[in-house]
Amino acid sequence: MEMGFNRPTIAHGIAVLAGVLTLGLAGTALAFHNGGVAHCDGCHTMHNSPENQTMNYPDHNIHLLRGPDPSSTCLRCHGVDGRSYGVLSSNGQNWSPGGDFFWLTQTYTTIGHSGPGPQNDPDNKGHNIIAEEFGLTEDATNTQSPGGTYDSSDLQCVSCHNPHGQVNGGTEAGQMPISVSGSYGEDPPPGTIAGNYRLLGSDGYENFTVNAPMAVTQGFDETDAIHPAYGEGVAQWCGTCHEEYVNSGVKHPAGNATSLEEHAENYNKYVKTGDFTGDQSTAFTALVQFARRGASKADLLAAVTSSAGPEFDDYPICLTCHRAHASAFDNITRWDTKEEFLAESQPNADQLIEMGALPNSAYYGRVITTEFGEYQRSLCNKCHVQD
Ligand code: HEC
Ligand code: HEC
Ligand code: HEC
Ligand code: HEC
Ligand code: HEC
Ligand code: HEC
Repeated sequence: MEMGFNRPTIAHGIAVLAGVLTLGLAGTALAFHNGGVAHCDGCHTMHNSPENQTMNYPDHNIHLLRGPDPSSTCLRCHGVDGRSYGVLSSNGQNWSPGGDFFWLTQTYTTIGHSGPGPQNDPDNKGHNIIAEEFGLTEDATNTQSPGGTYDSSDLQCVSCHNPHGQVNGGTEAGQMPISVSGSYGEDPPPGTIAGNYRLLGSDGYENFTVNAPMAVTQGFDETDAIHPAYGEGVAQWCGTCHEEYVNSGVKHPAGNATSLEEHAENYNKYVKTGDFTGDQSTAFTALVQFARRGASKADLLAAVTSSAGPEFDDYPICLTCHRAHASAFDNITRWDTKEEFLAESQPNADQLIEMGALPNSAYYGRVITTEFGEYQRSLCNKCHVQD
């Protein structure tokens, strides 16, 4: 069955425009979740009847879902090429903040110190959600979330997103109606509330005891010009399954216990290796994110289209270095942390071809040598300037 949400493939050359259009269409053509629970039969089929299934899974009746499992149900809409809201493509074309689960499906020959190395391990590139219909399987090495106890055999889209979009328990817990998405900074009319950012799970959903992260964005792409602006609660939210990583004191700081302080000044002055002449007003790069301490929704909305770097009090979060879904690099990092020169990142141009991925898709269309030069060292230097 066609869900009727298809839209033409958009070349990434006009991705920014597409983001604006997507926002403009919120509430009309694209709307499905509208920040909360969508119409039930978008995901459920009451009688499991054959005409309500696009593929034949005679045995499936888990919660009367359309797909054989929760994630496959989501991916029937979100796993199709050419959709702004896609999160699993056939060629790495989704340049969204969360990242493309495509990178979990690919192997290529790595380059070792003296010639070809082993095949890369695709399980290291992201959260291995289980989606039978799309060939996505459990992580072969991590049986639980590192620094936590979430079983990898239960990892689904709905481990992190509430499929019903409820905010802190929903109607049953006395919440007001959800009128708008929680992702775009829209103001809900009086007597209503906005949904959670990206329908993320929050207090009252499964094992979450925290609010959803404060964040605002526009559309589904991420560029330096239009990008999410993160506020409070991101690291604590990840900490639901990785508690030992948050404000731990023994791991890299991530969370509101540490301020950037002089690292904010570094961030703002650091343009690239060999160039420390930057200015706060133009310092932002979406490759190195941070959280804005105490930011209101209006502050975040303004920051989405701002190229300003951080303030003294802002702080590092998990998404400074990681993406939430998947990335082209081991440990879901935003840039390759395993090579000394960024230009030598793997997958490189040849490896992308070997995978059938779009050129430059590992860095969301950025041409690293053009933007940073051939000798750019790790982007850890944006805050630490050790190059
Ligand atoms: C975006 C997809 C989606 C929509 C829309 C949706 N559901 Fe669900 N629903 C799910 C998924 C996925 C599960 C299984 C969750 C799990 O396995 O943890 C589920 C589970 C359920 C359950 C089992 C109990 C529970 O909470 O786990 C009920 C009941 C339910 N849904 C009812 C509804 C009703 C009623 C609507 C419409 C008002 C609806 N759903 C809309 C995806 C959806
Ligand atoms: C019938 C098609 C369909 C299904 C099934 C579906 N989605 Fe969506 N989803 C959409 C569309 C269309 C949008 C963009 C419009 C919107 O936000 O409502 C979207 C948007 C989203 C967003 C961004 C919403 C926001 O407000 O920022 C998230 C997160 C999301 N979907 C997660 C899921 C998850 C998780 C599932 C499975 C439980 C799922 N979707 C199932 C069609 C679908
Ligand atoms: C480990 C938790 C986690 C899992 C698992 C997960 N998501 Fe997400 N998702 C997030 C977070 C966090 C964001 C917000 C990312 C940001 O803005 O940086 C997000 C963002 C999104 C978006 C907005 C576009 C983007 O990529 O930023 C969509 C759509 C979405 N998720 C759908 C899905 C679907 C469908 C699945 C399963 C195939 C899934 N997610 C699995 C945590 C998760
Ligand atoms: C609902 C539980 C859950 C949440 C929430 C969650 N994770 Fe995970 N995470 C897991 C599990 C389970 C694994 C191990 C399985 C795997 O690697 O796919 C994992 C693995 C990882 C890995 C290692 C991945 C690899 O391939 O080596 C990183 C990095 C990570 N998570 C970061 C994050 C960040 C950042 C957030 C917040 C945006 C987050 N996680 C939120 C459950 C979660
Ligand atoms: C400064 C950058 C940075 C920050 C901030 C950061 N990480 Fe990491 N993370 C890394 C790197 C690099 C690795 C690769 C392994 C290593 O160096 O320890 C990694 C590895 C991981 C792994 C995989 C560990 C394993 O045993 O496979 C998980 C899980 C993880 N990080 C979760 C998180 C969470 C959750 C947060 C936020 C609370 C976070 N990270 C903050 C850079 C960072
Ligand atoms: C957004 C800014 C930012 C980025 C990017 C960043 N860090 Fe940090 N880092 C900090 C802050 C803030 C601290 C805590 C203050 C301090 O100890 O210097 C810190 C602390 C550290 C420390 C401990 C320093 C000490 O004196 O004990 C190390 C080591 C470190 N970071 C390494 C890294 C590496 C490696 C990366 C890249 C994978 C990285 N950082 C990326 C901001 C950042």
